[in-house]
Amino acid sequence: MNLTESYTNKLTHLTVRGGTVSFVDGCSGPAERALGIGRSFGAEWIRNAYHDMATADVFSGTGGLDASIVFEMDRPENVGDAFQETLNIFKGSYNTRISMADLFAIATVMAVGACSNGKVIVPFRGGRVDAVGPGPSGVPEPQQDLPTHTLSFAKQGFDTSEMIALVACGHSVGGVHGVDFPEIVPNPIKNDNTVTFDTTTDNFDNFVLRMINTVPRDVKLTDIIEPLAIKPRKLSVAINDNGTLLASGIIRVSCGYPNCGPSYTYYRFNSIIPAELGISSFTVETVDTATGKATIHNNGGAGFPMSDAILPMFGLSSQSRTTINGGAQLQLNLTVAVLNAEMFTNVSLIVPQPLNKSAPISPWNQEVVHMEPLYKISGTNFTLYRGIWQSSGPLTATSSHPFDIMAEGSTQTVSSLFNSWDDVEFI
Ligand code: HEM
Repeated sequence: MNLTESYTNKLTHLTVRGGTVSFVDGCSGPAERALGIGRSFGAEWIRNAYHDMATADVFSGTGGLDASIVFEMDRPENVGDAFQETLNIFKGSYNTRISMADLFAIATVMAVGACSNGKVIVPFRGGRVDAVGPGPSGVPEPQQDLPTHTLSFAKQGFDTSEMIALVACGHSVGGVHGVDFPEIVPNPIKNDNTVTFDTTTDNFDNFVLRMINTVPRDVKLTDIIEPLAIKPRKLSVAINDNGTLLASGIIRVSCGYPNCGPSYTYYRFNSIIPAELGISSFTVETVDTATGKATIHNNGGAGFPMSDAILPMFGLSSQSRTTINGGAQLQLNLTVAVLNAEMFTNVSLIVPQPLNKSAPISPWNQEVVHMEPLYKISGTNFTLYRGIWQSSGPLTATSSHPFDIMAEGSTQTVSSLFNSWDDVEFI
């Protein structure tokens, strides 16, 4: 799997799991409905990223976009709803495959793209690492004098003219909210949320790019990541009663972003495959209905991976919620099918859980459950295994984070990664 594809996996989860998030929603419309007149998601996401980054010290190579803002919201320099609201939106998309700091960077890319009507597309790199606690304070505040601001921006890596350009352009989106800054906007609070994104002003996209790419010295960002033109989703292989395999999924086809959208069309497929043939990858053919021209997409030559080596058996699995010692517990009863089980010595279910369950974001702990063999499905080479995972400590929004299953043997390891709890029946 190449980098672009693995990122697009993440981006898909961002757009799909987050629900409210997409490239076009960032600036107005839905934001105004959700937050009330005078607030826009896009403006909040840009302000959030700036406040997160603003305590960077480029001379010592510390701070930057590292999501430390989630631990710093009660500071006077971070007054306003922007930070909690941004976190609330993106915590639904936070997972083991993407840091909150990368989500904040994508949010900024989306906001700038949406607020400029797609004219300013800031290239995105991933790889940011989340802070595990608060960093130093020092976000510039309106009542401070110019020399203080100049010094602060120098520490963030911007000279005086860059500071003026960044502040001016940053403030062409969103507004000052009288409820938080009565000395700037005295009551009555007026609707000052004019979205006048000026795409020609002072190389703004370059400043935004530097803002989101300011990271601690030891963090290495990836190459530029772009959405894939063809992207399989929700792939699954099931075993039919007659022993054949049912391969199904959805193919997401891009309209050709950034020349349009991005917007996608989704095509569902179901294919019956003889079990003795099996499946390891597939290609996608698109036909232009206007010209009749057919194009084969093979994921850079390797084909799109889809494997029957280890399969979650959702129809034989369940999840449940129980109360133990007064606390809610989540339980996953998972059955999986392993092809040619004699090749493997260990089959496991891996459920990621936050290490620190009371923190807004936390590094992940991979909780591993050993799975026991049940029986071989007659007429096939599949053996069923079963494992039960039970949560410990308080449940959080990420308790039912996608889980992995893995079979390890002396010659090979096979896995089925990032399986969704949505596919497991609740009992
Ligand atoms: C001297 C530096 C800065 C000061 C003193 C400052 C101050 C402020 C203040 C007081 C507000 C109003 C917040 C509210 O009422 O909710 C605001 C909003 C905002 N700031 Fe800044 N800011 C600075 C730099 C920047 C920079 C560099 C950016 C981004 C590149 C930025 C982006 C924003 C945005 C997008 C909003 C609108 C937020 C919304 O509408 O919810 N600011 N800023």
